[in-house]
Amino acid sequence: MLEKIDELKAKVDAFHSDDKEQIEAFRIEYMGAKNGLINNLFKAFREVPADQKKEFGLRLNLLKKAAEDKIKSLKELAEASSEAQGAGIDLTLPGEPYNLGSRHPISIVKNEIVSIFNKIGFNISEGPEIEDDWHNFSALNLPEEHPARDMQDTFFIEKDPDVLLRTHTSSVQIRYMENNEPPIRTISPGRVFRNEAISARAHCIFHQIEGLYIDKNVSFADLKQTLLFFVREFFGKDSKIRLRPSYFPFTEPSAEVDVYWGLNSEADYRITKGTGWLEIMGCGMVDPAVLKNVGIDPEVYSGYAFGMGIERIAMLKYQIKDLRMYFENDIRFLDQFQSSLVR
Ligand code: DAH
Repeated sequence: MLEKIDELKAKVDAFHSDDKEQIEAFRIEYMGAKNGLINNLFKAFREVPADQKKEFGLRLNLLKKAAEDKIKSLKELAEASSEAQGAGIDLTLPGEPYNLGSRHPISIVKNEIVSIFNKIGFNISEGPEIEDDWHNFSALNLPEEHPARDMQDTFFIEKDPDVLLRTHTSSVQIRYMENNEPPIRTISPGRVFRNEAISARAHCIFHQIEGLYIDKNVSFADLKQTLLFFVREFFGKDSKIRLRPSYFPFTEPSAEVDVYWGLNSEADYRITKGTGWLEIMGCGMVDPAVLKNVGIDPEVYSGYAFGMGIERIAMLKYQIKDLRMYFENDIRFLDQFQSSLVR
């Protein structure tokens, strides 16, 4: 009896066909309910001596499983080859890899920041990358000869010092206030330029997002709470921030915003210089002189502004250690960023 099972198993293993009728005939011969060879063996189970029953049952089940698998896979093959017939398709060829593009990490982070502020009523505004002195400097309370101009190594057009590549997106604040009445709630993402030597921490081209809120009775508390909301949405609901007094010519008072990064690893010590805090943006109450420059009455209106570097925030989010990677377009780098917005 056991030999009979082995014999059938060898036949099942050896069987091959891509003809649907032959496969069906094979199925009836082996698996048929009435007189199928395998079923007959199950019927013979009663006559098997008691000490062989266990072994017999085991092998018979294996045989049944082998026959089922064989029929299933041959049927699938026969099906696929009949579909491909006439289409000239060679099913043995490997599949074509098919790559979907992915968004650049800077775009992913920019979109995320923009959508957080959209949720609380900020619209999006943009301005030109080639600016004039007024919008980039003078209107922002940085008159000619102001020492703070030196902080921003500017690319000037040689023949006309009034034409420059904007050094920050704060220029869009001015344009927006010149063209819109308060209440104003806007964020302005964009590319900015500075004449810096390229290194892991600095680049001559980078991106910022500027925020501006102008209305009656806007206070520093509004600024702080808005930034806390942003940081919790972006970095997680348990995030903490602190504001350190700072100086910007266009805001008074001014502050720098730090997010608490923690001190859990050696890398955290290095990145935060042992404090656990990381600076992520500058902010402040818009200086009354700036409001006057754009024709908004500082006796009636007040407001806040903030500005952050997108590269820096993306570096924190993705733990990118070298700024230059953003601009090299190395597909091995870019492929690692997936955004739910594009897929
Ligand atoms: N423009 C500043 C920079 O590029 C960033 C900034 C600071 C923007 C404070 C602001 C602000 O709107 O209020 O470094």
